[in-house]
Amino acid sequence: MMSVDELAALVRTIPDFPKPGIQFRDVTTLLADRRGFADLIGRMARIAAPLDPEYVIGIEARGFILGAALAHVLGAGFVPVRKAGKLPGRTVGMDYILEYGTDRLELHEGQVPAGARVILIDDLIATGGTALAAAQLLREQGASVLMALFAVDLPDLGGMAALEADGIATSAILA
Ligand code: PRP
Ligand code: HPA
Repeated sequence: MMSVDELAALVRTIPDFPKPGIQFRDVTTLLADRRGFADLIGRMARIAAPLDPEYVIGIEARGFILGAALAHVLGAGFVPVRKAGKLPGRTVGMDYILEYGTDRLELHEGQVPAGARVILIDDLIATGGTALAAAQLLREQGASVLMALFAVDLPDLGGMAALEADGIATSAILA
């Protein structure tokens, strides 16, 4: 097992992406490291497994990578929450504000059954706008959002606090 510091060192920071002033935390360097990727998914699985989720919900795009790996380890189903216009079936949608713009998330209507036990996964939480919109969509579908789980938290932006204020349990591996 790696230390949290070793894992954190695998995430690189790229200045001024996608806009001037944004310090972009890039997890692709962690994903490319075989020990790092396995250790990250192992840590996420140890947090998620006791909740016994039926579905792992991954947020586009990097939430798909982590969410699919985690769903496989947990023996859960995987359901994508995507940017507008990407899902082929009937969708439910939610607009949200991003750290650097606005966007819309969609979920396939009926894909998550009412009463389903789900966890929400993404690579990173900044303002929390994306995860809150995804959680709202899931709740609209009648799902029970057991936890929102992230690889990286940017605590200065208050996203985890915003989710907790909305009654959603949160956890992150790296801050
Ligand atoms: C990033 C990140 C989260 C979100 C976090 O995705 O992967 O989904 O922003 O920001 P927030 O907490 O302030 O809402 P991005 O919008 O860059 O989309 P992408 O993964 O499709 O590139
Ligand atoms: N990295 C990845 N996604 C993000 C970031 C970041 O620094 N900020 C907002 N979304």
